Amino acid sequence: MPLPAPFRSLRLPVIAAPMFIVSGPDLVIAQVRAGIVGSFPALNARPASQLDEWLHRITAATQGCDAPFAVNLIVHRTNSRLQEDLATLEKWKVPLVITSLGANTEVNAAVHGWGGLVLHDVIDNSFARKAIEKGADGLIAVAAGAGGHAGSQSPFALMQEIRAWFDGPVALSGAIACGRSILAAQAMGADFAYIGTPWIATPEANAVEPYKQAIVDGSAADIVYSNLFTGVHGNYLRPSIAAAGMDPDNLPHGDKGQMDFGSGGSLEAKAWKDIWGSGQGIGAIRAIEPVADRVAALLAQYMSAQDELLGRIGMATRVD
Ligand SMILES: Cc1cc2nc3c(=O)[nH]c(=O)nc-3n(C[C@H](O)[C@H](O)[C@H](O)COP(=O)(O)O)c2cc1C
Repeated sequence: MPLPAPFRSLRLPVIAAPMFIVSGPDLVIAQVRAGIVGSFPALNARPASQLDEWLHRITAATQGCDAPFAVNLIVHRTNSRLQEDLATLEKWKVPLVITSLGANTEVNAAVHGWGGLVLHDVIDNSFARKAIEKGADGLIAVAAGAGGHAGSQSPFALMQEIRAWFDGPVALSGAIACGRSILAAQAMGADFAYIGTPWIATPEANAVEPYKQAIVDGSAADIVYSNLFTGVHGNYLRPSIAAAGMDPDNLPHGDKGQMDFGSGGSLEAKAWKDIWGSGQGIGAIRAIEPVADRVAALLAQYMSAQDELLGRIGMATRVD
């Protein structure tokens, strides 16, 4: 299936993933201006009235850019802001909406009503089927190793199962942090790499300096998968767990019922402020650098990975 129009002029096949607390207008504007899809969670704008100001600012600052921006809606039953945020997104005719923690037919219909597209994030094939049945236009396959709430399945398993029946837009996420991995995501059948963690280590991200530095200093071995902090399994930086006085290797289990976006996300925010979310891809991030520089580096790596791969495939053909 050909890609929908908003995706056809990207500089790189990359959607910058929304991150709680971390992604705001500065980050989104820099991402879109660099030629990739930028995004932020609606709940990052607080109070809810701030969402209107953010959308005004982002829309004005990205006028004429080739890449669109996206807003993430948490479609969880405890998100009391959902309807109000949806109305604000409609006012600004947000081109792309990323839904997570619940697929919802009414939300999808509302977005389609103003001409927007919905991508829904899923951690397995059964959630993927439900999302498309409920009217999402495309999928985000969140594989093992992704930052924040993450799945536990191999990206190969996820992509194989999803591509067996779905030929619409699919973004793949989980520890993608260099150009070669973007190309690998495409080779696995994804249209886009969905990248979160690497944007934390940028001046444009809303994160404290020690958090950014921990991304630069860390590697995959520093990531802990736990459901203690929000009730849903996610990946977090080991040093932040230790600094909060807990033993990262002996964490108790959380409870699914503890997730609560009821007060505009403020309870969730407490969990995320001190316990730093991060994917396993941080070994590839070795500096805090502006979004534009990171995108330029990813693009250069992506191009040389293409050459390298063509060489490899060519060699295999000659040997045969
Ligand atoms: C700090 C942090 C916060 C996140 N917050 C959200 C969120 O609010 N909504 C959401 O849909 N995904 C959220 N995610 C998940 C990302 O959108 C994305 O799936 C993930 O970052 C991709 O994996 P990567 O970090 O390894 O690139 C978050 C990820 C991180 C690292």
